[in-house]
Amino acid sequence: MRLHLTVSLAPALSLAACVGHQSALAPAGEQASTIASLFWLMMAVCGFMYLLVLAFLVAGLWRSRRRTDADGAPEIDPADGALTRTLLIWAGLVVAGLTLLVTGSFLADRRIAQARQRQALEVRVTGHQWWWRIQYRDPATGGWIETANELHLPADRTTRVTLGSADVVHSFWVPNVAQKLDVVPGLRNVIDLSPTRTGWFRGQCAEFCGAQHAHMAFDVKIDTPAEFDRWLAAQARSASSPADPIAARGMAIVTTGTCAMCHAVRGTRAVGKPGPDLTHIGSRRSIAAGTLAMSRGALQGWIVQPQAVKPGTMMPPIPLSPVDADAASRYLAGLR
Ligand code: CUA
Repeated sequence: MRLHLTVSLAPALSLAACVGHQSALAPAGEQASTIASLFWLMMAVCGFMYLLVLAFLVAGLWRSRRRTDADGAPEIDPADGALTRTLLIWAGLVVAGLTLLVTGSFLADRRIAQARQRQALEVRVTGHQWWWRIQYRDPATGGWIETANELHLPADRTTRVTLGSADVVHSFWVPNVAQKLDVVPGLRNVIDLSPTRTGWFRGQCAEFCGAQHAHMAFDVKIDTPAEFDRWLAAQARSASSPADPIAARGMAIVTTGTCAMCHAVRGTRAVGKPGPDLTHIGSRRSIAAGTLAMSRGALQGWIVQPQAVKPGTMMPPIPLSPVDADAASRYLAGLR
């Protein structure tokens, strides 16, 4: 009984997993809609053919049983043409099904490629083991505004993302918005994202890239165009110096100590490049590429024991006293 329940629940559970903020079947973008339609077409054609094969199999077994019960004489007489007719119908069905699949696939490809003709917002995404460097073209200066692990996109506009890798092959995938595309060292791959629905979604590296591949996610926020412009203008600003004395102490620790060797906080002495830009880290929803929800406690734990959270990460443990770690996390959480 229990086994029966598990078996009957399994399809329902797997379908439930398809609805949500990381699902190719809940499209929030033009490209993902096209792919979802193609998926349902393939599902319908292949499902129909599959059921037909099963029906013929069951019918064949049934007839052969009946025949054994009777005199064993062959029921199909090759001379009456029934076999030829059946095979012709079958071949026709196969050709029609394949034609539908090929046409659907061709049209989906064409539709996705159309976005390349449009004016688009320019974004660069670089895969690192195991996080994402994200840079937006600044409409005001033409320079690049850098952030990490949280991709903001304006709805009803196309964003053109140029993908690069700093180390191994990764794969960039925001299932709700578009198809996936490999992120290859030495190559510049380009993908267009045309989101249609606002909200929070989740992207994930979709190519095994080392021990923490599963912890190489990113938050995706689809904003209204006005919200997006405000957000980008805020990201373009340098970090402000905190008035709070504990946070000020934290600022001294972060921007002049070990952290500054790898991280940048724009507007301070910290200009390190190997790690994620921290200028507005407090405004992000998660830390360590989607590994922990953003909080002061999570920041503090991450600074002191990153290897406990994400074994193998390039971030070394920073031996700070509890008071200093508390100050550093207070400063970082305030970088909004
Ligand atoms: Cu990067 Cu998997």
